[in-house]
Amino acid sequence: MARTRKETLNAAKPVDPVAHNREAWDRQVARGDNEWTLPVGAGVIARARKGDWSIVLIGHKPVPRNWLPKKLKGLDVLCLASGGGQQGPVLAAAGANVTAFDNSPSQLAQDRLVAEREGLHIETVLGDMRDLGALKARSFDLIFHPVSNVYCPDLAPVWRECFRVLRKGGVLLAGFMNPDLFIFGREAEDGDATLVVRHALPYADLTHLSKTQLKALVGDQPLEYSHLLSEQIGGQLEAGFVITAFDEAEYHAESLAAKYMPGYFATRAVKP
Ligand SMILES: C[S@@+](CC[C@H](N)C(=O)[O-])C[C@H]1O[C@@H](n2cnc3c(N)ncnc32)[C@H](O)[C@@H]1O
Repeated sequence: MARTRKETLNAAKPVDPVAHNREAWDRQVARGDNEWTLPVGAGVIARARKGDWSIVLIGHKPVPRNWLPKKLKGLDVLCLASGGGQQGPVLAAAGANVTAFDNSPSQLAQDRLVAEREGLHIETVLGDMRDLGALKARSFDLIFHPVSNVYCPDLAPVWRECFRVLRKGGVLLAGFMNPDLFIFGREAEDGDATLVVRHALPYADLTHLSKTQLKALVGDQPLEYSHLLSEQIGGQLEAGFVITAFDEAEYHAESLAAKYMPGYFATRAVKP
């Protein structure tokens, strides 16, 4: 039986963030109140089939086309923690062989929904991004990893696994949160009139909030981790990647802090 949020966050034993976040994302899909759970329409897929497409990695900013391989047709693409019926189906319509890997059965079901509706083929794999053991070494040309490691407790295994499953010359596109936003806490997302520095980095809901705050500020949302740039950028370099491009974008959600700094960063990395 699925545990309730109250039981999960107040349990005496340590919280399993992956199990908590799986249920939290499934609930977001059921509610349909998070834009990253809403599948693309038929028009987007029809245009993608004709070569007219774009995808977002951070915020609402299209990925620069020179970050992507010139031709997608026949390339093996892993959409990592990228469910929701968005980028995976678009890349499949553009000709890629897409595998969608995600921790939420409902987010993967959104990818399948579009695939079945549009006659596309997408492999879906359920799991934690830190363990891609279900995927063979050197089996992908491109990994598309949008802003989702904010829900993952540690990143070194993610970068190691990405390196393992990519072919030589393969490309990893990763989006992630600007950790600095987290010093103001979740309070700054709720229309606070002033910004107060509350938290030392690296921030995590589970270590920086009391149970009362968790209930009030997190509620039934997924648990978050700020990480550090050393984990994001240093971690990719440590895994063996060469970073070839960097970008940033506005955080479009309600956040006073985000008015003063970019909310998202993105890297393009290559397995040499
Ligand atoms: C913001 S959504 C990303 C999907 C969206 N298509 C996008 O463009 O950003 C974050 C995704 O990360 C997934 N996720 C969270 N924790 C995960 C984990 N540990 N392993 C794999 N996926 C995870 C969630 O289930 C969710 O689908």
